[in-house]
Amino acid sequence: MIIAIDGPSGAGKSTIGKILAKKLGLTYLDTGAMYRAVGLAVLRANIDPADTKTIINLAKNLSIEFKDLGDELRIFLDGEDVSEQIRDESVSKMASIVSTIPEVRRILVELQRQIGMESRNGCVLDGRDIGTVVFPDADFKFFLTAKPEARARRRYEENLKKGAQTSYEETLAEIQDRDLRDTSRLDSPLQIPENAFVIDTSEMDLEEVLSQLLDIISQRRKAAN
Ligand code: DC
Repeated sequence: MIIAIDGPSGAGKSTIGKILAKKLGLTYLDTGAMYRAVGLAVLRANIDPADTKTIINLAKNLSIEFKDLGDELRIFLDGEDVSEQIRDESVSKMASIVSTIPEVRRILVELQRQIGMESRNGCVLDGRDIGTVVFPDADFKFFLTAKPEARARRRYEENLKKGAQTSYEETLAEIQDRDLRDTSRLDSPLQIPENAFVIDTSEMDLEEVLSQLLDIISQRRKAAN
């Protein structure tokens, strides 16, 4: 079974995706982490973000792997665990830039399809193009969204807990900046997949979102039997 969860950043996709996968006994794949890993590699190699050719060459030669360490899925870049480093704000920005390059997308989409198909019981994938490009025939497609202000508020509170100094206004501006880049890029822009269930999480808590998704899945499965 393949479950696609798409939507803008900060809509709660990865939190929901992880819990959903665990409840249903499926593999969870955070595809954004893969774009982030490429972004981190570009930053480390000091490549000019405008130098697309060098970025593509680098991406072709990177090893990106996920390892299940106990309760957590960690991401490894060329053998190094970079799960924490990829969450840096500078990496978020670079990930969004490299994700506009079609060749980079092709490399990562292929890897995502491979991981999805090889998952023993199935896979929950979260990203921006899962239901439109990676798995257009997914068994379930969800589009989780929320108002930019609600997403910025959540991100701001998360950052505060981590001790980051970014203000709410800066966080909102970053989210709007990323939304614009993710929705306006030519290759696989963020859009609502055909036949997707759209859920606006602005006024919902985690439990409510999760129970809505689980209800949809169980109703559909009952109807199919
Ligand atoms: O979900 P995230 O914030 O970790 O994603 C990081 C960046 O990668 C984001 O700017 C959009 C991009 N991305 C993408 O283009 N396609 C995906 N399937 C996942 C993420």
